[in-house]
Amino acid sequence: MNDNHSSFAKSLINEGRLMNHLDELSRIGLNPKTGGINRFSFTKEEEEANSLIKKYMEEAGMTVSIDGIGNVIGSYGQGDEVIMLGSHIDTVPEGGKYDGALGVITAIEIVHSLHEQQITPSVRIEVVSFKDEEGTRFGFGLIGSKAMAGLLTDEQLNNFDEKGNSIKSMLPNHAFPLNKWKRTNIKAYLEMHIEQGRVLENQHLPVGVVTGIAAPIWQEITLNGRSEHAGATPMNVRSDALTAAAEMILKVEELLNKSDSAAVGTVGKLHVTPNGVNVIPGQVTFSIDLRDIDEEQLELLNGHILEELNKIATKREISFSSKLLQRVTPVKTDYYLQKLLESSIKKHHIEPFSLISGAGHDAMNIAQIAPVVMLFVRSKDGISHNPLEYSSREDILTATHVLYDTVLELIN
Ligand code: GLV
Ligand code: MN
Ligand code: MN
Repeated sequence: MNDNHSSFAKSLINEGRLMNHLDELSRIGLNPKTGGINRFSFTKEEEEANSLIKKYMEEAGMTVSIDGIGNVIGSYGQGDEVIMLGSHIDTVPEGGKYDGALGVITAIEIVHSLHEQQITPSVRIEVVSFKDEEGTRFGFGLIGSKAMAGLLTDEQLNNFDEKGNSIKSMLPNHAFPLNKWKRTNIKAYLEMHIEQGRVLENQHLPVGVVTGIAAPIWQEITLNGRSEHAGATPMNVRSDALTAAAEMILKVEELLNKSDSAAVGTVGKLHVTPNGVNVIPGQVTFSIDLRDIDEEQLELLNGHILEELNKIATKREISFSSKLLQRVTPVKTDYYLQKLLESSIKKHHIEPFSLISGAGHDAMNIAQIAPVVMLFVRSKDGISHNPLEYSSREDILTATHVLYDTVLELIN
């Protein structure tokens, strides 16, 4: 095992430029009080970030276009067939600097380096910054890659944000011709991303090859009880939607703790109505994010959770409904691309290591239309979706060289 591998025979990547670009992007949407980054889809922060990405792409010798959903695409070289690299620049609320941004910035740097060396690829390279991967605004994510894979539905386009704006209303001409933007010419998609877990750190390895990506099911649960006076209503006649939610949230945790699969479940979002100190909560909505690498297990567990929550609602005489916000299929990455990454990792005297992604990625949707692979970069303490998210400069550079070599193999 080796933690240190900074000695590359010849550095073709402009390391200073790469790190400067990552820093510059991280200042857009930065909350100076917390260090968290807030960049959501169709906001001025996203627009500013997209302009910066466009500038970097053009400096790297790419021609930039925006597709119908708002994916920013840089194109380098000629030909119909495409080797695609990319990730996303949107964040979760109070997110970190590396989730998504790293994959976009390093991909641009790889092309910039090819351009500076006047290497003309035998196939076109595209770098994509996908629209709204995180799903912060409209109740579901991976929106840009869903659109590119032809998986976005009209129903999803009519999803609203909290202010009642639909995705459709934000699009040019308020429309999205689903078939027009589906891509069929991608020969391979490679995404570099921080690991967001502790596996590589425990293995003392800077990078790892992702062989599979666990899939999320997102639900929104709505509970309706009765809003009444907190002082005047006796305990035994209340219909309190929040205490019901509390019991349900603990039930989700209990069921996941008991499950023998690798599944995980999270309640991350809660809305209490009317949200007053002296009012019994009449309505509560909360989210459930449930994930597993095994689709059958995931479905079973999802069904079981809904059944158990329903029982709690019945016992407490609270009305219960659930709405499916997103369901993504778990994917296996492409074996040939895994081997290519591995041989490039070996070239850098690092032990090749494979792992599964617990987090979701745009690669999951692109896998429906093209062979995909992901390269993970070690995350400090496994922390992510948090301002403390961190990957070292050295690991980032190692990963960039590994991906650069893999791209060279693919384009030759
Ligand atoms: C994205 O980070 C997700 O896995 O939800
Ligand atoms: Mn991400
Ligand atoms: Mn994320």
